[in-house]
Amino acid sequence: MENKIINYLKFKNVDGFFISKPQNVRYISNYTSDDAYLFITEKGNYFLTDPRYTEQAQIECPNYTIINWREKGKTIAESVKFIIENLNIKSFLFEGDYVNYNMAEEFKSFGLESIGVTGVVESFRSIKTEDEINKLRVACQIADRAFERIIKDIRVGITEKELASKLSHYMVMEGADTKPYGNILISGTRTSLLHGIPSNKTIEYGDFVLMDYGCGYKGYLSDMTRTVVVGKATKEQREVYSIEMQMVEDSKAAMIAGAKATDVYEASIKAIKNTKYFPYHYNGIGHGIGLFVHEIPFMGPRSTEILQENNVITIEPGIYIPNWGGVRIEDQILITKDGNECLTSSIRELIEL
Ligand code: GLY
Ligand code: MN
Ligand code: MN
Repeated sequence: MENKIINYLKFKNVDGFFISKPQNVRYISNYTSDDAYLFITEKGNYFLTDPRYTEQAQIECPNYTIINWREKGKTIAESVKFIIENLNIKSFLFEGDYVNYNMAEEFKSFGLESIGVTGVVESFRSIKTEDEINKLRVACQIADRAFERIIKDIRVGITEKELASKLSHYMVMEGADTKPYGNILISGTRTSLLHGIPSNKTIEYGDFVLMDYGCGYKGYLSDMTRTVVVGKATKEQREVYSIEMQMVEDSKAAMIAGAKATDVYEASIKAIKNTKYFPYHYNGIGHGIGLFVHEIPFMGPRSTEILQENNVITIEPGIYIPNWGGVRIEDQILITKDGNECLTSSIRELIEL
């Protein structure tokens, strides 16, 4: 991937790129751990880390000059200065949305052109390679298998926290990376909390249980949501659920290469627009996903993006009614040449447990 950056640097007529966002570091260098910074130039690539990780960096990134930044100065910027002086760099880019104020000020003090940019590596990352798609596919399959296991555990009296921890355990046992990311498992009226955190609340008869979760596989993430009912669903639960199902189906039908993200949003609200539930839908209906859970393209009424072949995007319209509850179904979709493929395949019809 370094060549992509070098071509970009030539195109922009800049000498180097300091890359520090962890997902971008991983994407460019294949390094899988923490505390790592890249400095990419046409004259050579540098990898800055601390002594905890130098051995791992040497194994995973043999084409880089590995620098222990603690040896080169008090700050990471000081070791960047060392590289700049060595290579006679006159200008370099850094990630303006990630580098902190202090580091940006230090860069400025070098007295050469340091330019903050946003979204460069992210735009490369939004189009997935075959290898990335394969990893995302496995991450989704792991989440699907965990769903089959967790629904057997949902019963009156168990707490949200207990279920959430079982769900994480199942994903690891099914092959997920061990580094977790925030799964949501909430129940009853709490399901209207878009990003509710699992609590000590026990599951009760009649509750919706909303599970929004996923895992990493070799760094690549899955993200899916299913909402089930404990016991027999009420008429209103059925009604809201069936509108939600239709919203997801309509959105998926619109997810093709060349479609505007706003077209997908318009499709997503068709089934709810003329119902009393319209005020309870949420505008953010999906996002790209890969090494990070929320990445471009983002889907909603203000989005300016166009869907492209090999984007992987979640679709997750939802209905959230305060003090009553919420329903979300979320799938992970690969945009293909001729349409799309749903990478998550757990049952979507309403499950009554
Ligand atoms: N509802 C948050 C997410 O799945 O991204
Ligand atoms: Mn999710
Ligand atoms: Mn999501």
